[in-house]
Amino acid sequence: MPELAINGGPAAAEALKLPEWPRLTETSRQYVTESLESGRWCRTTGGEFCDRLEEAFAAYHDVETAIAVSNGTTAIELALRACGVQPGDEVVVPSYSFIASASAVPCVGAVPRFVDTDPETYNIDLDHLEEVITDRTVGVVGVHFAGYTMDMDRLLPIIEEHDLFLIEDAAHAQGSEWRGEKVGTFGDFGTFSFQESKSLPSGEGGIVTTDDTVLADRARTMANIGRRQGTVDYYHHFLASNRRLSELQAALALAQLEKLDDENRIRERNEEVLLAELESIDGIATKPRDDRITARGYCIENFRYDADAFGGLHRDRFIEALVAESVPVSEGYQLPLYRQPAFYRNEVARFLPRGTEVPDYPNLHLPGTEEICRTNVTYSHKLLLADEAGIRSVAEAVRKIRANVDELLE
Ligand SMILES: Cc1ncc(COP(=O)(O)O)c(C=O)c1O
Repeated sequence: MPELAINGGPAAAEALKLPEWPRLTETSRQYVTESLESGRWCRTTGGEFCDRLEEAFAAYHDVETAIAVSNGTTAIELALRACGVQPGDEVVVPSYSFIASASAVPCVGAVPRFVDTDPETYNIDLDHLEEVITDRTVGVVGVHFAGYTMDMDRLLPIIEEHDLFLIEDAAHAQGSEWRGEKVGTFGDFGTFSFQESKSLPSGEGGIVTTDDTVLADRARTMANIGRRQGTVDYYHHFLASNRRLSELQAALALAQLEKLDDENRIRERNEEVLLAELESIDGIATKPRDDRITARGYCIENFRYDADAFGGLHRDRFIEALVAESVPVSEGYQLPLYRQPAFYRNEVARFLPRGTEVPDYPNLHLPGTEEICRTNVTYSHKLLLADEAGIRSVAEAVRKIRANVDELLE
């Protein structure tokens, strides 16, 4: 009689019910309706929701300026351009992330330098960072991966010592903190995404944060096709793209921001329960607790799977078995970014000044990143909004697979 759901047994996590995402709240409906009825759907015609979103987001982060933009990818490109990246400059980028964290760099004409990943935290490996920096390096894009804050005590002195700019890609980290301060406020810029799967969704959308008034002024103009915000003439100070967020999306993002902290508190409580359960299972490695991370934001979450502790069962087969037990997990980002076809030499070269030497990215070997690609298991922040019985059933499903692993090895 098979026990495992993948072999026809009952699913261990039947009780796990994920909430609908994104959530259409009354406030979301109200703000979007107000925006629709105002007849001003675009910021340049005098709508108010982009202003309100920026004020609320800046206040939430205790930062001088927030600039609403059309998505999280364009937010990174804007930050790079505002930091003054020149064609052929080198910028250090993560090798384990969504591609935008790295692809934004060649998209503005600069050379990405991949840094390894710390498999314990999934953040950039700060020992390796020091090795990757050269005299052509002008800055670093670092991701607070899955909302787990980068070690700012170690990162900031490295940035300062080498006189680099820092862009914190906080697309996964809406609400995360380091020693009581929100992420996205430590570097020259923080960048955020409001894409639908994120914990602060507006369909598409994004925002950049900065405390630097000169950078803020430049970024604002650059986000508005080179035109000073608030002006309606056709005077354009420099060449730049249109990266503006629409009023309707700003209205939606504002409503979603207002519920972020309440939802993060639920996620944090549930994560505590889940981690306590998972930590007790041999072969499952969760991220370390770090008291300096005083609040967690959420997007995806991860743990590492050790096949040896499961009789040699391949990670992908483990994931299939867990999905069959009604736990929605996946292998996450399958490839190190430097192995993506987008980073083949010819492809990157198209974006760089003629004659720029392009590293042979696909032949890089960064052990931390490759270990994560082999062992990672990803789940969504939505799971952490389930009820406690559902959360506990995730660990029950993992234990069940471990106890019955022979069924899968035969
Ligand atoms: C870490 C990270 N950076 C940047 C982005 C890009 O955001 P967007 O999809 O809004 O362009 C994403 C989106 O998934 C992301 O996960």
